[in-house]
Amino acid sequence: MSSFTSAPAVTPATASELRALIESRRAVRRFKTDPVPDDVVRDCLEMAVLAPNSCNLQPWNFQVVRDPVLLEKLHTVCMFQHAAKAPLIIAVLARPDTWKQACQDIIDKWPEPQVPAAVEAFYRKTAPFQYDQGPLGIKGFLKRQLLRVAGLRKPLMRTPNSHAQMRVWAVKSTALAAQNLMLAFHSHGYSSCPLEGFDEVRLRKTLDIPKKAVPVMLLAVGMEDERGVYNPRLRFPLEQHVSWL
Ligand SMILES: Cc1cc2nc3c(=O)[nH]c(=O)nc-3n(C[C@H](O)[C@H](O)[C@H](O)COP(=O)(O)O)c2cc1C
Repeated sequence: MSSFTSAPAVTPATASELRALIESRRAVRRFKTDPVPDDVVRDCLEMAVLAPNSCNLQPWNFQVVRDPVLLEKLHTVCMFQHAAKAPLIIAVLARPDTWKQACQDIIDKWPEPQVPAAVEAFYRKTAPFQYDQGPLGIKGFLKRQLLRVAGLRKPLMRTPNSHAQMRVWAVKSTALAAQNLMLAFHSHGYSSCPLEGFDEVRLRKTLDIPKKAVPVMLLAVGMEDERGVYNPRLRFPLEQHVSWL
């Protein structure tokens, strides 16, 4: 078996360290003005993009905002929320529109001399069938009808078969990367607050966000200031959310 087929063994220490990291991360809403060094940002972004993602098509973008003028504008865009007054804001964008280029990139950048035939067939044929919704979503509509009939006989993947479903598709993977990003910053001693409280129209204008990109969240990052965490942690009992089947 080749070395890359399984993840390296985890030790019990890793589990308790991960628990400590996850437990101690909080949404921080007051930051010091100290900048976040670029090498830390880069390291965290590298960890963000190691997130699992659909078909490895990596449908995300990150806009790293350090410019004080832009940061001030983002504070306004976030309706003057205290949490948006940070020395660094990363706009986490889902890209439902980059899958075609990603299919080509996977073949071009395959990390072995020969792209396995099954991989090439998947990215040249299966993926385009799954993700191409056509102009005005017409291909998606036709696929939905086809799947309705073909699905009577065998289990089939039913989505994404519309532009709206493509947005959900891209947001799922991007949200996982955002969580990696928050934990990565936390592991470097920096706090963060995910923000969806923003004016999307103004955000798009301010950061010149491509039309088809979906702003998933803004991530405010910095050193925690005094009383940075507003409330004690509250989570509902596990039983409320979990069913064991
Ligand atoms: C998608 C998303 C959007 C959020 N938007 C905001 C926001 O606009 N403003 C804010 O102060 N906190 C925001 N939060 C932070 C949550 O309020 C916070 O994570 C939650 O209260 C739980 O607290 P904890 O992260 O400290 O455990 C957001 C969190 C997520 C995941």
